[in-house]
Amino acid sequence: MREILVTSALPYANGYIHLGHLVEYIQTDIWVRAMKAQGHQVTYVCADDAHGTAIMLKAEANGITPEEQIASVKASHEADFAKFLIEFDNYHTTHSEENKHFSELIYRRLNSAGHISTKDVEQLFDPEKQLFLADRFVKGDCPECGALDQYGDNCEVCGTTYDATDLKNPYSTLSDATPVLKTSKHYFFDLPEFEQFLKDWTRSDNRLQVSVANKLQEWFEAGLASWDISRDAPYFGFQIPDTPSDEPDKYFYVWLDAPVGYMASFKNLCDKREGTDQALDFDRYWAQENEHKTEVYHFIGKDIVYFHALFWPAMLAGSELRTPTGVFAHGFLMVNGEKMSKSRGTFIKAETYADHLHPEYLRYYFASKLSDKVEDINLDLEDFMQKVNSDLVGKVVNIASRSAGFIVKKYDGMLSDVCAEPELLEDITKTGDEIAAAYENREFSRAMRLIMQCADKANEYIDEKKPWSLAKIEGTEQEVQDVCSVAMNIFRQLMVYLAPVLPELTANAKAFLNIDDLSFASRNEWLLGHKINKFKPLMQRIEEKDIEAMVEASKESLAQSTTSVASDTDVNNDSKAAKNTQLANTNTDTNTNTNTEQADYIGIEDFAKVEMKVAHVLECNHVEGADKLLQFTLDVGEDKPRNVFSGIRKFYEPEQLADKKVVCVTNLAPRKMKFGISEGMVLSTGDPKTGLTVVTLPDDCVVGDTLA
Ligand code: 2FM
Ligand code: ZN
Repeated sequence: MREILVTSALPYANGYIHLGHLVEYIQTDIWVRAMKAQGHQVTYVCADDAHGTAIMLKAEANGITPEEQIASVKASHEADFAKFLIEFDNYHTTHSEENKHFSELIYRRLNSAGHISTKDVEQLFDPEKQLFLADRFVKGDCPECGALDQYGDNCEVCGTTYDATDLKNPYSTLSDATPVLKTSKHYFFDLPEFEQFLKDWTRSDNRLQVSVANKLQEWFEAGLASWDISRDAPYFGFQIPDTPSDEPDKYFYVWLDAPVGYMASFKNLCDKREGTDQALDFDRYWAQENEHKTEVYHFIGKDIVYFHALFWPAMLAGSELRTPTGVFAHGFLMVNGEKMSKSRGTFIKAETYADHLHPEYLRYYFASKLSDKVEDINLDLEDFMQKVNSDLVGKVVNIASRSAGFIVKKYDGMLSDVCAEPELLEDITKTGDEIAAAYENREFSRAMRLIMQCADKANEYIDEKKPWSLAKIEGTEQEVQDVCSVAMNIFRQLMVYLAPVLPELTANAKAFLNIDDLSFASRNEWLLGHKINKFKPLMQRIEEKDIEAMVEASKESLAQSTTSVASDTDVNNDSKAAKNTQLANTNTDTNTNTNTEQADYIGIEDFAKVEMKVAHVLECNHVEGADKLLQFTLDVGEDKPRNVFSGIRKFYEPEQLADKKVVCVTNLAPRKMKFGISEGMVLSTGDPKTGLTVVTLPDDCVVGDTLA
């Protein structure tokens, strides 16, 4: 029996769980259940990731304390996980005594081994909020193209990345105050010292998927940098111990104590179970000398590989603790082939889904899509409905529903004393070995395919024997009972195989089959001369209207919710570093990916969304205080002219553009800028660094006409 500790990434305590998150929790839960079914001792822990600026500000915005904020979010996360049958052995929080203890312990060990250093860092500071500003909380004019209102890390107009300190006319998004430069002492973890250890670690014992190990190789080649692990007050987190008493308090950056939360949640469980027959020994899992006695696996999204495959093992090795046996990364969720979208109703909260559809449908669909690769998976809602209806209702449940009636009505629920088709059942038992291997290797889509092939064999057998026709012929009673008994036994085997994915359905099947055991080892225990209970429908078909209602409800519920505060990977000062360290372009706030094959093309309906109109330049002027901008007054055929700012001052004098016909994008959301509201965009070609040419139209174009 193997002793295995498993974790999923800790969700931030400032938002709800959505279907993007659930890919990981469902993947991990299936793996844990499959490994438990094999008889291993598996412990699955998780926690809320409760620290950081984002959570502190969210609490402030909600008018509550951070402690109140994280308590209410934790309760909602736990309720959502329970709905989706995610069976944690423990769900804790990083804002806990255990986590404080281990974060301090690890820090002190790293410090005394000489792995911590300090350096003065100059950063933008909000003088009103008295807060150092992460890049995402500073806006200003792009230093390259002059576009207004750009974030402190990169320009959405010209794509340049820069330091927040390079922004022109910067302002704090928290108070509108002009930030000032301020220096403060930061604490750094010396990651480069661990380069050789990490190179060996990442390439040994198959701990990482090949694509992840290759990405790490690129990071090694690019060079590792020391990691800034401290934040200044005010910050919601743990104070760094042993800092000089005459200096301001420093706090651990949230990403320092987050993975320690895995250990803390496990310790909390060990304490709860102490003295019971399920007792766990903490040191057996985390002491360095026990590294080969037990196994520790982290399931994560591809956006947080850097933290789990570099910082975390280095922190553990540097503090003489065991390192993970494996880190398994997964891709992101697309819905209907696109990034999840609030306006299309495909940004679906776990709760909204569960209000309309059974969570096991989603568990099965995700299982049928998941592999051991770091690939994005697509929830195509039409395919989802068809697959669940055809595989689970049409194939699997159908085996029981078409056979159980005969057994119950004609034979008082008794199955035959002998097995009429031992070879067929043995064949399905043998496939079980491949299914178990597929589960263990996280090739769930392969496992689901193999299970459906078994279901097909059972249905073909029933179709061939036609018990419904046989039953009309006299003297065939034994044969009908035998055929239906074979079918019921195969159904039982399928329940064993599907139990990790469909725990509720299989629990109901257990009651109906009148059995106690659906462990993997029981797959070839035939039910002979055994009495089953009356069949009750085990699963309903998905109706199109349920999916439509869920999509509609998602549009409504997300319209009501306030914009979420960006995740701490985004809002903390090393957001640029975090971005450069992702395995793929990602949006860490939504856990959805934009960089996919599908996203390389847009449909005609996407193109049609951009409204471009012929505009007449009524006025074009300089903007006082902005050396990159021109201000347009445009007639686009509406009642009132529009005001539009454009970053082309370097290339044009206003009089060159007055009275011209230009192209204006008219359905861009109005943007509030320092100098007023911009109500559209004037199209131009070229490069904002070297030269832009405004697209002008022939004079005979009609103002207000749409370009298509
Ligand atoms: O990216 C996230 O959502 C983080 N809250 C994950 C933390 S995982 C672990 F390190 F705690
Ligand atoms: Zn720019």
